[in-house]
Amino acid sequence: MPILVQHHQFHLQTDHTSYILQVMENGELGQLYYGRRIHDRTSYPDLTAREEHGAIPAWRLNRPDFQPETLKQEFASLGKGDYRDPAFQITSPDGSRISEFHYVAYQLETGKQRLAGLPSTFATDDDVQTLTLMLNDTVSQLTLALQYTVFPHQDVIVRSASFTNTGQQTLMLNRAMSSQLDLPDANYDFMQFSGSWARERHLVRSPLHSGTQRIGSLRGASSHQQNPAMILARSTTDEDHGSAFGFNLIYSGNFLDQVEVDAFGTARILIGINPEEFGWQLTPGEQFQTPEAVLSYTDAGLNQLSQQMGEFYQRHLVNPHFAQAPRPVLINNWEGTYFNFDEAKLTAIASDAKKLGIEMFVLDDGWFGHRDDDTTSLGDWDVYAQKLPNGIAHLAAKIHGMALKFGLWFEPEMISIDSDLYRAHPEWTVKTPHREMTPGRNQFVIDMANPAVVDYLYGKISRLIEDAHLDYIKWDMNRNITEAYSPTLPASQQLEFAHRYMLGVYQLYGRLTTDYPDVLFESCASGGGRFDLGMMAYAPQAWTSDDTDAVERLKIQFGTSYGYPQTMMGAHVSAVPNDQTGRITPIETRAAVAYFGDLGYELDVTKCSTAEKAAIKTQVAFYKAHRELFQQGKFYRLDSPFAGDGNVGSWQVVSADGQHAIAARYQVLNHPNPAYNRLYLRGLQADQRYRIAGNDHVYYGDELMNAGVFIPHLQDSTEGIEESFDFSARLLVIDAVEK
Ligand code: GLA
Repeated sequence: MPILVQHHQFHLQTDHTSYILQVMENGELGQLYYGRRIHDRTSYPDLTAREEHGAIPAWRLNRPDFQPETLKQEFASLGKGDYRDPAFQITSPDGSRISEFHYVAYQLETGKQRLAGLPSTFATDDDVQTLTLMLNDTVSQLTLALQYTVFPHQDVIVRSASFTNTGQQTLMLNRAMSSQLDLPDANYDFMQFSGSWARERHLVRSPLHSGTQRIGSLRGASSHQQNPAMILARSTTDEDHGSAFGFNLIYSGNFLDQVEVDAFGTARILIGINPEEFGWQLTPGEQFQTPEAVLSYTDAGLNQLSQQMGEFYQRHLVNPHFAQAPRPVLINNWEGTYFNFDEAKLTAIASDAKKLGIEMFVLDDGWFGHRDDDTTSLGDWDVYAQKLPNGIAHLAAKIHGMALKFGLWFEPEMISIDSDLYRAHPEWTVKTPHREMTPGRNQFVIDMANPAVVDYLYGKISRLIEDAHLDYIKWDMNRNITEAYSPTLPASQQLEFAHRYMLGVYQLYGRLTTDYPDVLFESCASGGGRFDLGMMAYAPQAWTSDDTDAVERLKIQFGTSYGYPQTMMGAHVSAVPNDQTGRITPIETRAAVAYFGDLGYELDVTKCSTAEKAAIKTQVAFYKAHRELFQQGKFYRLDSPFAGDGNVGSWQVVSADGQHAIAARYQVLNHPNPAYNRLYLRGLQADQRYRIAGNDHVYYGDELMNAGVFIPHLQDSTEGIEESFDFSARLLVIDAVEK
């Protein structure tokens, strides 16, 4: 079994990793080890070895060597001699801020229970095991349960914590992280995925140094700017070799990922809800459950880390109804029409799209209230009768009549001042008393912490799902929270707002996905502003970025792939000149980038030339023929667009059996008289022989991986390239040849 217990020592084993902790002499929990799997032993004297350090407090007078600041702690408290940032912090009614959680008991169970009210992982397999460690602080009468679930085959451990007030007094929980890890050295690079709107999840890699390095969000959403996915890798670790720890948080709101490097060169990693703007009043009997943190380790490089974590999300987080299901090729009218459409325009687009093999039509913003621009109507989720006089159900029936699926855009969490909803319920808007409201995209946030709001939205959305038989919903969120405050909460609970807001969002998502299990949700937040595991638990795919430019998308999708599998990434071909960059790229290149995700088109196909339509038809057919490989194949990053001058990027997908693969190499600008470029493939079987489509040779897998494939320079005579040699893409379709 994956969890081995012996006398106050707990050894969590996955196929390739070990995580070991123990009860220390002071009754609190200490960490021993996390890394490559090691033998189970009754004790590990070397892992507890310590030296006495000068000028720092010790636990007891007679134990000068037991110094909290030098301990590897499992879930550290504040104020008792460990001066690193703690995992939690509690204030008692008398104003004191000290807690001591002593180990009481453990529980082991097969499988895993979901968390109530929060997105969480699940397991049906017998080989998944959950360990709960119960701890108690007798002074404040608080119990702490630390939960660990071990997923052996993906080398993943999921952690969370819950606090229960068993006493008679109300306590304040000021900080409640999901996971703490104390690594014995800090010789790692911090890999974060940072950016902005239209430039999401660019890789930033920098060595750890003394002090605290942190990323996080206080925007009420996980954000475009930073992502909860984080990696710590040895400086020599690359895509195919070396050690790396992967971390993520199953949460969509304010988060914190932090690494603190202390005076002794150790690294403390804390992951959880951002303690800024957080506080939770724990009344007698009440429990607070943190979101789940995901931890994973490999010594086989970053591709392996992304693959094992991605496989874990697909098996144990994403709705099983959709996880492996083929995602439809869609057309979305947003960049094609923006707000300017009527039924005839939409059905014309749908009808042309159908002829090209597209499978779903998605009606984006502008179909409700009286919305002709972004200043009005959010909250009024009824059809804009002047634009669509026959209603949404009628339009949906027409689209369904063309044998296309039909999807609809909502932005449930928002409200416009110019809306019937605001006129009826101004108190539903997030607003601080006596303060001006700060607008964002001309709109305001609705108070998801108010259960009446959740009920209202459920009523509106479920009605449309039923009336129009929706197959898909794009759930957008186009601004961040300001003046965070809910009139439904007393003053003493206002610091709960940001988390209660998220609980309201999750409740609405949970109710809709439970009651309408066949509706596919795609999450969105001005593109990729909430591309996180909390959303993925309900919406199996997300709109990766509002930036549809093929060159920009290279970095965005490459960066995103470190933390998330490609089947979570919505990727569309749009018209040129591109609306975000003005760049003109060949339609083949736009498609070659979008293939490595959930393919869609986002343009007015009725305006496409005959040649463009022919190209789209060919692309859709090609994608469908290889859909499983593109969406579910093992994804390998080959050449990083973040390396060097960023002129080249390449990646590859490989089928589970290693028999089929597609690789793509993208080149931004074409330079004259170039070096001899080779593309080194990955994930093939060394002894298997393969053919590359359009090439007469037969290659062994080891040859393609180690010797690589020659990529000839683009020049006048190159077939298929007619206009510019810039912004090019080469696709290699690789299939095993029967032995
Ligand atoms: C956001 C989304 C876009 C589109 C618009 C509609 O920006 O990211 O895809 O839906 O809103 O207003």
